[in-house]
Amino acid sequence: MVNDNKITNKSKNRPFEDVLKARISRRDLLARSMMLSAAGFVTAVAGNQVQQAVAGTGYGRKMWSSRRRRPWWRRRKLLGFDPVKVADGNGPVPTISSDYEYQVLIPWGTPIQPRGPEYDGNPNTRPTADEQAQQVGIGHDGMHFFPIRRKNNHGMLAINHEFGRNSHVLGKDEPESLEDVRLSQHAHGVSVVEIRRRFNGRWRVVRSNKARRIHVNTPVTFSGPVAGHSLLHTTAGNAPLGTVNNCSNGYTPWGTYLTCEENFNGYFGATGEWTATEAQERYGFSEDGFGYGWEKFDPRFDLSKVEYQNEENRFGWIVEIDPMDASQTPVKRTALGRFKHEGVGLTVGRGGRAVCYMGDDQRFDYIYKFVSARNWRRMRAQGTSPLDEGKLYVAKFNDDGSGEWLELTIDNPLLAAKFKDQAELLTYARLAADELGATPMDRPEWTTIAPDEYVYCSLTNNSRREQADKANPLAPNPDGHIIRWRDTNRHVGTSFTWDIFAIAEDTHGTEESFSDPDGLWADPEGRLFIQTDGGQKDDLNNQMLVANTKTGEIRRLFTGVTDDEITGVTVTPDQRTMFINSQHPGNGDPTVTNFPAAQGSGKIPRDCTFVIVRKNGGIVGS
Ligand code: FEO
Ligand code: CA
Ligand code: CA
Repeated sequence: MVNDNKITNKSKNRPFEDVLKARISRRDLLARSMMLSAAGFVTAVAGNQVQQAVAGTGYGRKMWSSRRRRPWWRRRKLLGFDPVKVADGNGPVPTISSDYEYQVLIPWGTPIQPRGPEYDGNPNTRPTADEQAQQVGIGHDGMHFFPIRRKNNHGMLAINHEFGRNSHVLGKDEPESLEDVRLSQHAHGVSVVEIRRRFNGRWRVVRSNKARRIHVNTPVTFSGPVAGHSLLHTTAGNAPLGTVNNCSNGYTPWGTYLTCEENFNGYFGATGEWTATEAQERYGFSEDGFGYGWEKFDPRFDLSKVEYQNEENRFGWIVEIDPMDASQTPVKRTALGRFKHEGVGLTVGRGGRAVCYMGDDQRFDYIYKFVSARNWRRMRAQGTSPLDEGKLYVAKFNDDGSGEWLELTIDNPLLAAKFKDQAELLTYARLAADELGATPMDRPEWTTIAPDEYVYCSLTNNSRREQADKANPLAPNPDGHIIRWRDTNRHVGTSFTWDIFAIAEDTHGTEESFSDPDGLWADPEGRLFIQTDGGQKDDLNNQMLVANTKTGEIRRLFTGVTDDEITGVTVTPDQRTMFINSQHPGNGDPTVTNFPAAQGSGKIPRDCTFVIVRKNGGIVGS
């Protein structure tokens, strides 16, 4: 959530609102696109088991087979559950479809090893920095379940901790010591916990030699074109540490977790004199950042300290984590570019290439694509990461429903005139994309790849304040929309066709009401799970809905707690257990909600995960 409301893109590139000039209804849009794509759709689904697996929970393994289940297009009802009604979707505790039930798992402060130090939301205490480093962090966001021995009841859950306000984490607005800063830093990052379902159906954290916390002070390393470059070097000579503002995520066919650094700029500030460079301005650095105050006690985050110059270039990357090996050093994959990475949708394209779709979440920023140099299996067999060698592109959307992927390469004379080498270009990918005339979008958030090869991307709204300003119903895209595109060459081409899947505004006043789409997951059967982050219309809390991508029907499966955000989505291999998150319930205010503690307990509300199952044991979403 932490929205950076500034507009740092001062390029003259044409905003997406101009391109989206014809506002027609969602169902009209769907009917049109279905006619255009129906034939190719069935062929693609029937002929492409790899894509099925990619859209599910693992790669290279058949997550879906016609022997086990009927293909989705032959099934009568993709969405068979009783939806949560608009009238029931608010209040201090969650609501779920009457066909489903949920369990709360790993709230902030849960020890990552059983019997470790625990924080239970007592408003009079906080964990120490050392304790927090042994506990699940705050700001639950993107996550992924990695099954152990392909089981549906046992696995590693890797989960991002996007942010935690000082008032929530520290119980005060500003840090007063380095210990305070360390507590805040340890609440950020990633948790990897081992979880298991017991015979009574309840999940719990179990003792593990794979579990770990990765936070702002964990050693990390760099790989790809920028590794070893002077832009990552500080004269202080401090080793690279940490990851921050870990928003959405991705996962790879080779079993690793990808965590994405989004609003990293907000953790830096300046205690002395400092003038922003062109790149620092474009990435939104400022004297006060988002008010975390880390720079006051940790010079690493002080932009005015010359010896730590370039420290900020060490953030804004996608970081690869092995969820099965606690001794692995997280790797920042620089070939994927540096920007405010919301998340990464990874699929396997033509020729076995690893393809990453990525949103840069700031108003008027861009959508990117990375294509690995060769077949991912061959690259790994040769000892090269598929995420270290390849081409990075940025999207240009044309008015006629076509689009182009513009390559960000130093071989382009336009870019060679601005950057010294490919490493500098990747470090300042936003500036390179500005040069090529990419299309400024309305805050690209999650991307997900459906079995029909459509890539869906949520274009959310801005902050709640922005929503309060949108009294004028004719303002463009006041509540966000979901765009989708399909590449012309199985994800590896340089052109695509696109259309709009849903405009949130069109749903208001109906039982399908939603605003501010953010988290997305396309399941292997043709459902699209939509999670929201922002002020919902029709007096709804933030929520998770399920759309039928063929018909456009939308049903509400879950609504969260007052003032929370619903984000993060992953399932067990059989799709019968889903994990989602509540981020910042009650905005941390115990007078709003005490969730997940009992209402009236006075406890501080804590970010947590929900385990969601269908009561009849069916696939989640059915
Ligand atoms: Fe971290 Fe753009 O949401
Ligand atoms: Ca968001
Ligand atoms: Ca988000």
